[in-house]
Amino acid sequence: MNFYDSERITDLLKPHGYKLDDNEDDADLIVLNTCHIREKAVEKTYSELGRIRDKINTRKEKTGKISIVAVAGCVAQAQGQEIIKRSPWVDIVVGPQSYQNLPELIAKLDTNNKYKNIDIDFPTIPKFDQLNDNIEERGPSAFLTIQEGCDKFCSFCVVPYTRGAEYSRPLKSILDEANKLIDVGVKEITLLGQNVNAWNSKGLDNQNWSLGRLIDELAKINELKFIRYTTSHPLDMDIELIKSHRDNKKLMPYLHLPIQSGSDNILKMMNRKHTAKEYLEIIEKVRDYNPKIAISGDFIVGFPGETEKDHMSTLSLIKQVNYAQAYSFKYSKRPGTPGSVFLNHVNEDTKKTRLYEVQELLRSQQLSFNKKTINSIMKVLVLKKGKKKNQYIGRSPFNQSVYFSYNSKNKNLIGSFIDLNITEAFQNSLKGNIVSNF
Ligand code: 5AD
Ligand code: SF4
Repeated sequence: MNFYDSERITDLLKPHGYKLDDNEDDADLIVLNTCHIREKAVEKTYSELGRIRDKINTRKEKTGKISIVAVAGCVAQAQGQEIIKRSPWVDIVVGPQSYQNLPELIAKLDTNNKYKNIDIDFPTIPKFDQLNDNIEERGPSAFLTIQEGCDKFCSFCVVPYTRGAEYSRPLKSILDEANKLIDVGVKEITLLGQNVNAWNSKGLDNQNWSLGRLIDELAKINELKFIRYTTSHPLDMDIELIKSHRDNKKLMPYLHLPIQSGSDNILKMMNRKHTAKEYLEIIEKVRDYNPKIAISGDFIVGFPGETEKDHMSTLSLIKQVNYAQAYSFKYSKRPGTPGSVFLNHVNEDTKKTRLYEVQELLRSQQLSFNKKTINSIMKVLVLKKGKKKNQYIGRSPFNQSVYFSYNSKNKNLIGSFIDLNITEAFQNSLKGNIVSNF
């Protein structure tokens, strides 16, 4: 989501004369977009700000030019004024729900830099209604935020505090943005939301639509070929969405559905509001409708009070699901969340061992999922050039990176769909040969 926000910030500033520069050394404006989901986010932000201070000082000494520094994102939201106190060279602090105000915050800075601008409000008018609709450059694949915030309040998570309450973007605004993305050459859209499958809005028929209906509507856009969405919550996995995985050929066979732990005791302490069995039943249902679907998830090891038995339940759940891919993290204490004041915090060494065990299991499952695709033919969207000569990298329907070679000076394949015969499979990628004529 931060990636999407950064793109929108770039879009937003373009009409004000800014353009994206890879090099900070001569930048008039540096926006540091921050994430607060796990620990060290705050320390990372401050050490990055130290590096930025050196850059802007050097620029000032060499050229006399002053750079504006803005801190955006969830660390900005959580730290607010504290950022300016600790890093007085920062001019603007702006939260994830108020970055649409950046042009105004920049304009309001006085030239002597006497005033700082902080905007960490949760505005009453949603930011999407205030963002400009300037979209100029995207690759073949783009993100589109359709839902933000969270009302679930898992006891380990800062999102409800930094991103605010659950909000679904209205249908029209989503369709407009999707069409703009298509106009700039996008072929694949990933719909984003902290609880993306909680999205709901009034539909074209004035009925309440959920995510499955939205995806079916988006699929009517001819030039849009691949649709994905992330991240989902088990409680919001409705039948309409599950059916789309069977009936909608543009919806990719991939579901990221975090459970966090396989132990019911821990799930309860985490305030996940569902059991391991309920989660497994959802997975079973999804597979009934689409047997080939790749399942992904998130896991937290070492949540306060997690026993060896709880950990074993997580390993056992992972074995039952057999993931195509998954993310796993050591529990990290987030200030202000209920979990941070729970007793029986798990020691660091135990967390490390448990994380290793979870990751080893997930790694082996990922490798065998990838290996099963050898000798199959997959339609791949070509995203970029690889590091090697004549090499391209694409993404498979199952969200795998696929490398292949093509030697032509006249033809650039980026943005094309190519049928590849998969010849080799590794932990994090596949290799294939072109079979399609194009
Ligand atoms: N500690 C560790 N991992 C966390 N996540 C969220 N909060 C924490 C935390 N306090 C993980 C969850 C979530 C993913 C985005 O980040 O697994 O699904
Ligand atoms: Fe955080 Fe996701 Fe739980 Fe919401 S549902 S509190 S975003 S982990």
